Order: sequence, then C-alpha cells, then structure tokens
Amino acid sequence: MLSRGTAILTDALAAGRAVGAFATYNLEQVQAIAAAGETTGLPVMLLAGSSHFNHAGRRLLATLALTAAQESTTEVGVHLDHCRDLDELRWCVEAGYSSVMYDGSHDPYEDNVARTAEAVRIAHDHGVWVEGELGALAGDEDVTTGAGSGAPDTMTDPVQAADFVARTGVDALAVAVGNVHGFAPDAHLDLERLADLRAAVTVPLVLHGASGLPEKEIREAIGLGVAKVNVNAELRRAYLHAMTEELPTVLPADDAVRLWRAGREAVRRSAHDTIGQLVRP
Ligand code: 13P
Repeated sequence: MLSRGTAILTDALAAGRAVGAFATYNLEQVQAIAAAGETTGLPVMLLAGSSHFNHAGRRLLATLALTAAQESTTEVGVHLDHCRDLDELRWCVEAGYSSVMYDGSHDPYEDNVARTAEAVRIAHDHGVWVEGELGALAGDEDVTTGAGSGAPDTMTDPVQAADFVARTGVDALAVAVGNVHGFAPDAHLDLERLADLRAAVTVPLVLHGASGLPEKEIREAIGLGVAKVNVNAELRRAYLHAMTEELPTVLPADDAVRLWRAGREAVRRSAHDTIGQLVRP
C-alpha cells in the first residue's frame, strides 16, 4: 500500500531501525525494490526523483512507482528525491507522492530557507511530508565513483540546523556528516557531529550516500536518530554486474527478457540485504 504521513519514519525510529530508500530509474528497479519490501516484510521507499526523471520521464516513472506502491502488500513510500524545482515538486505532490525533498543545499542559506519553506507550504497543503537538506554532499547522484570525501566546511552545522528546521517546518532533515554520493572508499561518518545534530533538532534525520559506507557506521548513525537511509549506486552496481554475468548465456538466443530478469533479481537481493542491515547496534 502507498505510505501516508511521517509514521513510516517515526515507527522505524521507535523500532530501532531506518527505512531503506532506494533510487529507481526503470521498471525492473521499481519492481525489485517493492519486492524487497515484501520479502523483508518492512516498509520501503522508492526514490523516483528529479535525476531519475531525466532518464525515464517524470509521468512514466511516477506512474510506475505509485502503481507499484498501491499494489504492494507492504507499505511503500514514493519520494521525490533531490528536487530543486518547485513546479516539479508541486506536480509530484498533486500526482500523489507520499513525500518530497526540496534540496536547496547548494544555495545560499537564506535562499535555502525561503525555498524549502515554500516547498513545505505546497506539500503540507496536500498532507505530504517534506525533507530538507542542509550542508552539501560531494559526488553526483547518478555517478558511481570518484566523489572523494566531503570537506569539513560542507558539513551540516548543528546550530544552523536548529534554525533551519524551526524556520522551514521540514519534517525530516538530510545531513552532511562525511557521507558522499557514490562509492568513496575513504568516506567515514562524523558520528560526533551527528550526535550534536540529533540533540539540536527534533525531526528525524536522513542519511544520503549510503553506498559503500561501513555497515557499522550506518548502524551507529541509526542509533543516533537516522530514520531514512538513501541508496543508489549499490543497486546500479548490482544490476550491471548481474546483467554482465548473464549476457554471454542469453546472447545466442537474443533472450533480453532473461537479462532484464537477472538484473531485477540482483536489485531485489541487494535491497533486501540492505534493509536487513538498517537496524541500530
Ligand atoms: P549513493 O549512490 O551513495 O547510495 O547515494 C544515494 C542517495 O543519496 C540518493 O539520494
């Protein structure tokens, strides 16, 4: 069923876990992520966001994600990831998304506050919750490697975070605490800063860029109030590797369907395993 409201986050926190939020670009990934929710019996979130629309088209991908959520036997959130366009955000809210992220993290602080507050007004009118972001992550949302780790001056400042949450009314806050988009072998979380952020704000925290982060650090982050963990590169890698392995066996018969199925099953397994790891220590 399609998730409604912030209980998907608060229930996870109360149960000592975080919701797995997985980026999706196509039909097979949508199906795989929803299936991982069903095979774990836990809520899951589909990140059908702005950069994914660049590949699949907004209406098509949104329709796929919303339909999969409605048809699922477990709770599935459909979330607009990394949106910087308020018209797009309004479109997704009106289409039935359960949550949206306005990402003003690369803007000057006052612009981020003003535009995120406007996103909150638009979304709350429709009963949709909003994630804001403060502090900037290194790396590209669609690229797997080469990000390097976040410089300390891009990390989220706890005092500013308290001001940001109070002035915007966001329901969840994405933080930059050493996490980066894509695989970055040297990336480590600044757990002390995360503890300070937890003390500074009351809303659930969101950890982007979970691919490749040590499992122990992710679990400690969940113990410090992270309620949603975003994953993208790991699923893309699982998809590609499975298709590469399968390719020689399907080529002689031009059996593309078997190739797509292999990719889908690899994504399901990867998401399933990640969901199982998202528990506090
Ligand atoms: P990764 O690609 O590092 O998993 O990051 C995903 C993400 O944060 C999507 O918003």
